[in-house]
Amino acid sequence: TFCAVQAQAEVLRVGTEATYAPFEFMDDNVQPQGYDIDIINAVGKAMGYDVQVQNMAFDGLIPALMTSQIDVVIAAMTITEERAKRVDFTEPYYKSGLSILILEENKDKFKTIDDLKNERLCAQIGTTGALKAQEISGNVGAFNTEPEAFMELKAKGCAGVVNDRPVNLYFLTKSASKGVIEMSERITAEDYGIAVRKGNSELLKALNEGLKKIKESGEMAKIHQKWFSV
Ligand code: ARG
Repeated sequence: TFCAVQAQAEVLRVGTEATYAPFEFMDDNVQPQGYDIDIINAVGKAMGYDVQVQNMAFDGLIPALMTSQIDVVIAAMTITEERAKRVDFTEPYYKSGLSILILEENKDKFKTIDDLKNERLCAQIGTTGALKAQEISGNVGAFNTEPEAFMELKAKGCAGVVNDRPVNLYFLTKSASKGVIEMSERITAEDYGIAVRKGNSELLKALNEGLKKIKESGEMAKIHQKWFSV
């Protein structure tokens, strides 16, 4: 008898917050799906990692990374100066930015962002949208998930939802968004990055290399096509 020793791929423990379609959401079998999930799987494959995705609260992702419960965060996470003090980000992999959803019935009342300065605004806890809402009116309903913020808007519990534009636009394609529109005023341009623990330069390098590979191979464009084609 003999023992076959096989090289095991290194496990990459990935954290996300899967209520954020089309970037990350749970399918009917409660499996994480979406643009980010495809990206990290492709990067993992290119670099020889065994990718395992865990779902957690958005504001728990960076703490989980810092305490080594996970090795990577991919969660439509904007690269910000504040976050870059606590984690290291890969090169940007997606261009995003904020927009505001309001009720169609209020479209004459809320023409510009300034018209919202005395209004209650909704956002997901710990997001750049929540920070912007704080800046605009200072009266913020902060929810654990974005779908809850959308529901609050529809229930007229707030005047607007401040959130990433691609996620807002995706929501607007769903029947649940009946009566909801996007304000035309653009707010920010933001870049998403994949986060690793500060100083984990080996993994950071591997992820950047993986991103470069899937860009050059055309795989990233295919993933984009899959989730964002009209
Ligand atoms: N891009 C925004 C941020 O970084 C929102 C991200 C929310 N992501 C999520 N998976 N819920 O703050």
